Amino acid sequence: MGKEFKRHLITSALPYANGPVHIGHLAGVYVPADIYARFLRLKGEEVLFIGGSDEHGVPITIKAKKEGCTPQDVVDKYHNIIKDSFQGLGISFDVYSRTSSPTHHKTAAAFFKKLYDEGKFVEKESEQYFDPETNTFLADRYITGTCPKCGAEGAYGDQCEKCGSTLSPEELINPKSSISGGELVKKPTKHWYLPLDQYEGWLKQWILEGHKEWKTNVYGQCKSWIDGGLQPRAVSRDLDWGVPVPVEGAEGKVLYVWFDAPIGYISNTIELLPNEWEKWWKSEDTKMVHFIGKDNIVFHCIVFPSMLKAHGDGFILPENVPANEFLNLEGDKISTSRNWAVWLHEYLVDFPGKQDVLRYVLCANAPETKDNDFTWKDFQTRNNSELVAIYGNFVNRAIVLTHKYFEGKVPAVGTLTDVDKEVLAEIPQIKASLEHNLSTYKFREALKDAMNLARLGNKYLTETEPWKLAKTDMERVATILNISLQLCANLAIAFEPFLPFSSEKLVKMLNLEKISWSEFGGNILADGHQLNPAELLFAKVEDAEIQAQIDKLNATKAANEAAAAEAAGTPAPLPQKEECTFDDFMKMDIRTATVLEAVKVPKTDKLLQLTIDTGIDTRTIVSGIAEHYTPEEMVGKQICILANLAPRKIKGIESRGMILMAKDESGRMRFVTPAEAVDNGACVG
Ligand code: 2FM
Ligand code: ZN
Repeated sequence: MGKEFKRHLITSALPYANGPVHIGHLAGVYVPADIYARFLRLKGEEVLFIGGSDEHGVPITIKAKKEGCTPQDVVDKYHNIIKDSFQGLGISFDVYSRTSSPTHHKTAAAFFKKLYDEGKFVEKESEQYFDPETNTFLADRYITGTCPKCGAEGAYGDQCEKCGSTLSPEELINPKSSISGGELVKKPTKHWYLPLDQYEGWLKQWILEGHKEWKTNVYGQCKSWIDGGLQPRAVSRDLDWGVPVPVEGAEGKVLYVWFDAPIGYISNTIELLPNEWEKWWKSEDTKMVHFIGKDNIVFHCIVFPSMLKAHGDGFILPENVPANEFLNLEGDKISTSRNWAVWLHEYLVDFPGKQDVLRYVLCANAPETKDNDFTWKDFQTRNNSELVAIYGNFVNRAIVLTHKYFEGKVPAVGTLTDVDKEVLAEIPQIKASLEHNLSTYKFREALKDAMNLARLGNKYLTETEPWKLAKTDMERVATILNISLQLCANLAIAFEPFLPFSSEKLVKMLNLEKISWSEFGGNILADGHQLNPAELLFAKVEDAEIQAQIDKLNATKAANEAAAAEAAGTPAPLPQKEECTFDDFMKMDIRTATVLEAVKVPKTDKLLQLTIDTGIDTRTIVSGIAEHYTPEEMVGKQICILANLAPRKIKGIESRGMILMAKDESGRMRFVTPAEAVDNGACVG
C-alpha cells in the first residue's frame, strides 16, 4: 500500500510558445495529464492541474528573427493559440499562465537569488562560442553542426533532433553560427553553475533506491545519467531574452530557460492561489506528478529536484514522472520545422465537435512504452469501428428502445437470469482494473477497460435481443433495458476522464445531475427515472475527410522535398495536382496549331501577340513567352493550344486560347510540339 495523500499537484510540461501544439505534445503529455486530473477530480480528490507557456529560451528568439518581429510578439501569438486550442480540446487546467508574467519573473529571480546568496552555485569563467559577425555569445540552438553520435548534419548545440541525443556545443563537429552561418571563435564569459555532482549521492538514494516503481524508460534514463557521473550545469546564458540574472555584474545575462521554466509550475500556482500556494508545494500531504515527454526527463528528475533540494524551504519532490516516448505521424518523426504534424488548432477547425475522437485515438495509441505511430486511417477505423460501432451503438440502442417501449422511463428489473448476473458482476471488476490502471499511469490499458464495458453492453443487447421479446415478454425486456441503462450510466463515468464531451452528452441524455466515481460499479438510475431523447454520441468519419488530411500531408511532403531539392540545386517536379475526372479532361479542347505571325506586345517585357492557324479558324492568342522566345523563333512553329479557354482581354487585346508550355530544368519555358508534323486542328487527348 502506498502513502495516502490529501491532495494532488499535477504539472504538465510548459510548451514553448514558439509554435502551436501538435498531436505529439498531446499524446505524450496533455491528454494523459488531463485524464489523470479528471479521474482524481471525479473521485472527489483535491486536485490542482498546472499548465502554462514556456516563453523564454533560444527557440523563441530564433523564431522572432525568422518572422522579423520581437520575441514578445512571438510568445503573445503562440501563447494565445496554444491556450485556446487546449481549451477547445477540454484540457482542464486549473491555471494556464506564462513564464513572461511578472509573477514568474519575480518568483524565478527570487529562487535564483536565494541559491546565489547561500552559495549554492559555482561561478565559473569559461571559453564559450562567440559569433564575431553578430558580436554575441551563442548557446544551444544558435549553434549547429554535425552530431557526434549519429553524424547528422544540422544538429543543435543542445540536442540532435535526428537521434534525440542531448548535446553540448563543445561536442558538435564543425560548429557554426545558425544566425550568420559563419565560423565561431571562443571567448571567455562568466556563468553560474548548479553543481549537480554534489547531488549525485542524494539522487542515487532518492531515485535509484527510492523510486524503483517509476516507468522503465524514466528510471533507465535517470540511472544512466547518474551512473555516467553528473557534471555542474550552467544556469545562466548570455542572451537578452529571459529573466535577468538578479545579481550585480550580470548585465546581458539571463537565467537559462531550463532553470526558469520548471519554476513556472510554482509561479503559476502562486498566480492562481497567492495565499495558499505553499500547501501545494511544501506539504508532505501533497502528491506531485510531472507529465512530460522523454526529452524532458533529465530536467524533471535530476535538475529541477536538485534545484528544489538546494533551495530547502520544504519544497516537495515529484512522487512520479510518467514520461512518455514520442508519437510519429504516418511513419515519420513529427517536426515543427518541416511542418510534419497535425496541429491541434487546425484539427479543431477541420473536425468540429470531434474533440473526443482525437482524445480517444491519442490515448489508445499513446507512446507509453515505445514510440508509436499516428495514421489517419487508424484514426478513422478507431472512430468508426470502436466509438461509433461499439460505444455509440450500444448507448443509442438502449435509450431508443427505452423510449419505444417505456416512454423513456427506466423500467424496473424482474427476475435476473445468469446472463444478467454475469453482466452486473463484471461492472465492479472493470472498475477495479480501470482504477488500478489510471492510478499507475497505464492510460492505454485503462481506456481498454472502459471500452470493454461498452463491449459488454453491446454484446449483452445483441445476445438478449429485447426487440424480439417485446411481443411476448415485456417483463424480460424491462430487465434487459434496466441493466443496459445502468451500464450506460456507468459508461458515462468510466469514460469521463478520456471523453469528457461525450460523457457530458450522455449524462444529459440520461437526465442525470452529475456523476461521481463512487457511484461507478452498481445501479445508478432509479426505476421510473425519465430519460431525455436519444442523440448520437459519435458520428462516422467519412473517407473524404481522411483523404483531405492525407492530401494536406502529401502537399507538405512535396513542399519539403522541393525545398530540399532546391537547396541542393536540383529543383524537384511540382506535386501532382488534385485528381480530375475523365469528364473534366474531355471538356478541354486541346489541338495542334501553327504560329503564322508573332509580335511583341508594346510596353511589356513578357507578352507576345500570336496569330494562330488552329485548323478551324485563325485567331489571336496573347502569351507570356517573350522572355523565352523571340517573335522570329515562333513563326512557323507547330504547337499545341487549349482552344476552348474562355476569351480574356490582355493589355486590351482579346486572347482566345492558351499555348501549352513546359518549364525546363533551368526554368525556361518550352512550347509543346507534336513529335511529327500533323494537320492543324487535330485533337490532342
Ligand atoms: O520541451 C519543452 O517543450 C519545454 N518547453 C518544456 C518545459 S517543462 C517545464 F520545465 F516548464
Ligand atoms: Zn544525432
